[in-house]
Amino acid sequence: MFKRRSFLTYFSIGWLTSCFPVILAAYDPRKSIAQTITNQDSAKPATTKTPGMFTLVGSVADLDKNGYLQTKEVAVLRDPANSQKVIAVNPKCTHQSCDVKWAAGEKRYECPCHGSNFGADGEVLNGPATKPLAVYSAKIVETQVLVEIVAKPPVDSRQKVIPFGRGHN
Ligand code: FES
Repeated sequence: MFKRRSFLTYFSIGWLTSCFPVILAAYDPRKSIAQTITNQDSAKPATTKTPGMFTLVGSVADLDKNGYLQTKEVAVLRDPANSQKVIAVNPKCTHQSCDVKWAAGEKRYECPCHGSNFGADGEVLNGPATKPLAVYSAKIVETQVLVEIVAKPPVDSRQKVIPFGRGHN
């Protein structure tokens, strides 16, 4: 005769055994911090570029070693006013979309195409660009630099192409 207590014991063991693979599958210690940091309202992975999603740009060690991090989509510096924070900008020049580069000695982003310069915060220091670089939310989480890349910068299409060194004051 099958007793009620035995039935419950076997049922519990069977249930726990069937759940174990699901629990193991849900726990993946190889996931990076960037993959796990998502908007609380969304379950999409962090690599999708929607508001609230932070993308891993690089390590704090590389940021401090090189003085900046730069990819095709984003350039990151430590905030000159608060070294605990980082500032991220879109490196596409707002004049005609050339990639700006950080010039550490000058403490500014320089555009190689027509000579526009931008401050660490993306503000225009001198043209022909008239609009600042697009700024993204950025943060340091443990050893990683994360940036919320959400939009393309506006391009100032009203500007004409002027060879570098001519027509600038
Ligand atoms: Fe940068 Fe023209 S594209 S100054």
